[in-house]
Amino acid sequence: MTLVLKRQENMEILAVLVGLFCVLQSNGIEVEALENGCQNFQSHTVMLQEQQSYRSSFHFQPPKNWLNDPNGPMWYKGVYHLFYQYNPYGAFFGDVMIWAHSVSHDLINWIHLNHALCPTEPYDINSCWSGSATTLPGKGPVILYTGIDANHCQVQNMALPKNLSDPLLEEWIKFAQNPIMTPPDGVEGNNFRDPTTAWLSHDGKWSVIIGGWSNNQGMAILYRSEDFVNWTKNQDPLYSTERTGMWECPDFYPVSVNSTDGVDTSVLNEGVKHVMKAGFNSHDYYMIGTYVPEMEKYIPDNDFTGTSMDLRYDHGKFYASKTFFDSVKNRRILWGWVNESDSREDDMEKGWSGLQSIPRHIWLDRSGKQLVQWPIEEISKLHGKKVSLFHKKLDSGSIFEVQGITASQADVEVVFELPELQQAEFLNPTAVDPQLLCTDANASIKGRLGPFGLLTLATKDLTEQTAIFFRIFKGLKGYLVLMCSDPSRSTLRDEGR
Ligand code: FRU
Repeated sequence: MTLVLKRQENMEILAVLVGLFCVLQSNGIEVEALENGCQNFQSHTVMLQEQQSYRSSFHFQPPKNWLNDPNGPMWYKGVYHLFYQYNPYGAFFGDVMIWAHSVSHDLINWIHLNHALCPTEPYDINSCWSGSATTLPGKGPVILYTGIDANHCQVQNMALPKNLSDPLLEEWIKFAQNPIMTPPDGVEGNNFRDPTTAWLSHDGKWSVIIGGWSNNQGMAILYRSEDFVNWTKNQDPLYSTERTGMWECPDFYPVSVNSTDGVDTSVLNEGVKHVMKAGFNSHDYYMIGTYVPEMEKYIPDNDFTGTSMDLRYDHGKFYASKTFFDSVKNRRILWGWVNESDSREDDMEKGWSGLQSIPRHIWLDRSGKQLVQWPIEEISKLHGKKVSLFHKKLDSGSIFEVQGITASQADVEVVFELPELQQAEFLNPTAVDPQLLCTDANASIKGRLGPFGLLTLATKDLTEQTAIFFRIFKGLKGYLVLMCSDPSRSTLRDEGR
């Protein structure tokens, strides 16, 4: 049976319940029901008026305004949920950020619901910042999020669904005893945020990490709880390092050693390794390693170095990402905020800023040394007319146009055959930062094998274009492919940015 997602007729009635205050039993956790206050925030249903040729329609976006981090992705009673950081007042990062909420059956087509969490209480009056969802076995989902309190201090709060039988989880109730965590000694009020999905540890207690910075160290501050309500800080962080800045949006999860299948966040056995992801310096970095629950320690195979050698999910615009375990298809799915590079003025003019990446299936590579990602299979639902070209010969400097597609929305599969691999220049991959190499050897610099690739979003005269290009090198053990994108001519408006 397929559940049809529809906005419910009685939604308006719910909006009248402002100020409702009663005691509910939800998830076995006793909560006092405070209406979430989102009725006071601008409606999200107004569409942008004009047709915008550069607006994406494959990626997740609200109808308008600013979006950043994905929050609390999960599946519940047949429905995928995505919450995200949203400014209801405009296309800029705001003083008042809220949790917007959308639902889907396939992670591709989304319906925007009423906002889930808005600033209303002293513990979140200045914003509801990022956080995660945890499903308590046999009980249902709980959200942990960072509130910016009346003193502009970051605290951790909890919210629960008002009605567990509603698969859309349309209404959320803030826990009356919030905040449940405040900055511990040595951690300043602006360096304590973004709780992860919690996991059940070996001793039956819950563990969760909060991103932090203390004593010149970036860290995963660890809290533990027996009942999910009363949390105690563990003496030591799960992991800390002097080699990074403040950790934003940490993520901590197991990956199967020998399979592309995902595993639930609490799974702990011989068949898994653990990934620790942290956001700093505007990028998402990760380590692969071993979680030792008896010591509440994370031992990475390779520590963060604070250099370009650290592993990254993505070398493009991709930040504040979060994974969740999709029990329907036994896979772990990664979402990230595509933080565009448009200027504030351009964002305001177009009326929106930011999108979510296409959801990616993520797993551990057979080498055990890095993660592998691929767009989820459901992306095929977006495929329309297929345009195929075969056996095109690319001579040096030659360009041809692929006709019959919308340039701003295409899923491209391309195979290049290279007759003369021996010519490739030598490259020592351990001594080079691929990011810098892409910039130094941009699309206009000719090498021995490359650049070749695609010019996307190009004007007829090619003055505006975004090159996605490849170079082939001879490495220590075989050939290496460098894949780059060159945004230096992506817009005519602001040349040289
Ligand atoms: C990351 C971040 C988080 C914070 C949120 C606020 O992009 O700065 O650390 O919770 O955005 O929107």
